[in-house]
Amino acid sequence: MNQGKRVGIVGAGNVGATVAYSLAMLGACHEIILRDNKIDIARGKALDMSQAASAVRSHTIVTVAEEMSDLSDCDVVIVTAGSPRLPGMSRDDLLMINANITREVILGVARYSPNAIIIMVSNPLDAMTYVALKESGFERSRVIGMAGILDSSRMASFIQEKLGYGGGQIRASVMGGHGDDMVPLPRYSTVAGVPLADILNRDEIDEIITRTRNGGAEIVSYLKTGSAYYAPAKATSIMVEAILKDTKQIYPCAVFLDGEYGFSDVVSGVPVMLGANGAEKIIEITLDDAEKEMFRGSCESVKTLIETLNKNNFFEGE
Ligand code: LAC
Repeated sequence: MNQGKRVGIVGAGNVGATVAYSLAMLGACHEIILRDNKIDIARGKALDMSQAASAVRSHTIVTVAEEMSDLSDCDVVIVTAGSPRLPGMSRDDLLMINANITREVILGVARYSPNAIIIMVSNPLDAMTYVALKESGFERSRVIGMAGILDSSRMASFIQEKLGYGGGQIRASVMGGHGDDMVPLPRYSTVAGVPLADILNRDEIDEIITRTRNGGAEIVSYLKTGSAYYAPAKATSIMVEAILKDTKQIYPCAVFLDGEYGFSDVVSGVPVMLGANGAEKIIEITLDDAEKEMFRGSCESVKTLIETLNKNNFFEGE
């Protein structure tokens, strides 16, 4: 039973609202609290979703935080607030704008929901997760970035498209940061247990890898005024469910590394076990030399962003 569980969502745009809708339909928690600067938009969406929840006899209510202080005593807080990624804009362009927004939000979360588990969704994802960790002062198990489930789902969907069969039976694996150098792992991807290399040739697999890396940009190129939200939101809601239900399931998530995979003081996507205490365990899988090299490259990219924040004195005075 999850009665009494409170989930806060900061940013009621497409991703935030769709996470809320998904959780409300599942009856995953007692209350979902939306926080957005556009307060009337949040009010409208909250009413609409509460009514949808009634339609499916879900007990979840969706409310609005008029002030940050209304986002109190949440079990999980999801942060989607930030400037969206527009066409031609890399995730990294968003760095300084979104770091400042993240800081302001996280200081409020840490103050009013000091026991919450924070799920970061804003881009650039890994750097924002790092900022959230530093600004909250929370232990690393309670600050987790969403991206690995999204990127793996995209890879799985491209595998299905390429094969023309296997839907629902595909396990794809993507590690590393949520950037252009993310690390899709065909060696750890299977269709009903069959290794990918047994059913697709090298060129086909390479095509899938490239398309996975560009998965976000491909959707931006169609939507033009915004980025993907159904899959990002569903991936987030899967994480929330695992935490609230304490399932101890393994999902790829962005967490602060402290020696795992040979890296420290950086956030990257790795398999973690999710439970009531957040990222309760980091799983270290064996990577071959080429995979290690790709993972290193991805971590270096995130480190470059963190260095940019440091050069701009972002963390100064803390
Ligand atoms: C995506 C962008 C939003 O992957 O990062 O869809």
